[in-house]
Amino acid sequence: MKMKMKLTELLGIQYPIIQGGMAWASDATLAAAVSNAGAAGIIGSGGRTTEWTREEIRRAKTLTDKPFGVNVMLMAPNKDEIVDLICAEKVAFVTLGAGNPVPYIDKFQAAGVKVIPVVPSVKLAQRIESAGADALVIEGMEAGGHVGTQTTMALMSNVLPLITIPVVVAGGISDGRAMAAALLMGAAGVQMGSRFLLTTECPFHPAAKERIIKATDTDSVVTGYSRNHGVRGLKNAFTDRYLELERSGAPQGELDALATGTNRLAAIDGDVEAGLVQVGQSLNVLNNIAPCRDVVAAIVQEARQALANACKIEL
Ligand SMILES: Cc1cc2nc3c(=O)[nH]c(=O)nc-3n(C[C@H](O)[C@H](O)[C@H](O)COP(=O)(O)O)c2cc1C
Repeated sequence: MKMKMKLTELLGIQYPIIQGGMAWASDATLAAAVSNAGAAGIIGSGGRTTEWTREEIRRAKTLTDKPFGVNVMLMAPNKDEIVDLICAEKVAFVTLGAGNPVPYIDKFQAAGVKVIPVVPSVKLAQRIESAGADALVIEGMEAGGHVGTQTTMALMSNVLPLITIPVVVAGGISDGRAMAAALLMGAAGVQMGSRFLLTTECPFHPAAKERIIKATDTDSVVTGYSRNHGVRGLKNAFTDRYLELERSGAPQGELDALATGTNRLAAIDGDVEAGLVQVGQSLNVLNNIAPCRDVVAAIVQEARQALANACKIEL
């Protein structure tokens, strides 16, 4: 049964769950499977060519008649082409990260595309709301991939009371209990990345999926934190080397050269020592690979149970 809430109405979906856009990990197959499961799938255009993104959008349209989105990394050299493509293809919604989304809001909305920027602070959330975004994602530093400085709990406490458009919460949310907690805090919904890496439809390399299943709570690290561009992934030979250089004060150019291509190396080639397996901190609950339909159904059922249990507390 549908969970009728602001976010489900805005996006035309059944459950208030968005699959986070993931560079090298979320393609048409994953996005369509998530959307067919009643949540909202997203194709990750980060690191990809415009042609690849066009093909994936068109492929997703053949795999689902449900709404799906595209994630745009605003630091990508082809970002303007990707923005034009999304407008021309009339994709249901976009999530925007790694740059200033404000100049793009009107253009997307004029093309009928809903705009959901990802923000790491109160100041940016307020700026994005005043600029007319349809919703926003706040992402805590428990998340896999690029991270800010605040935890998900701190962001929910700080941002949710101040914003009136729907706020989706991300970072360390990988099961129904965490989803219920976010909804109790006042979130409009949740965005999950890591949980959807461990699905049969996700093209993430099997060796990287296996490494995530084996990992436990303390096994992730953030590289680049002292230089203001933290990225969370599993501790391995690459992160050991990077962190050693970072601590020794190595020039940024040297660190960038070491990091270039490491996401792809893990996600596509399956090199889980020289590449970076980007994943969030909820590692103990990331312990099985299942089809998206089962993952979404289990999360929704667990969230419903957790919310029902909370209502039983004698107050
Ligand atoms: C492998 C991976 C790649 C990611 N790539 C992107 C990206 O290209 N753009 C983006 O905005 N967020 C990216 N993210 C963040 C996710 O969209 C999502 O917000 C995050 O995974 C939520 O936290 P969780 O991993 O704890 O679920 C990535 C996350 C992962 C795990």
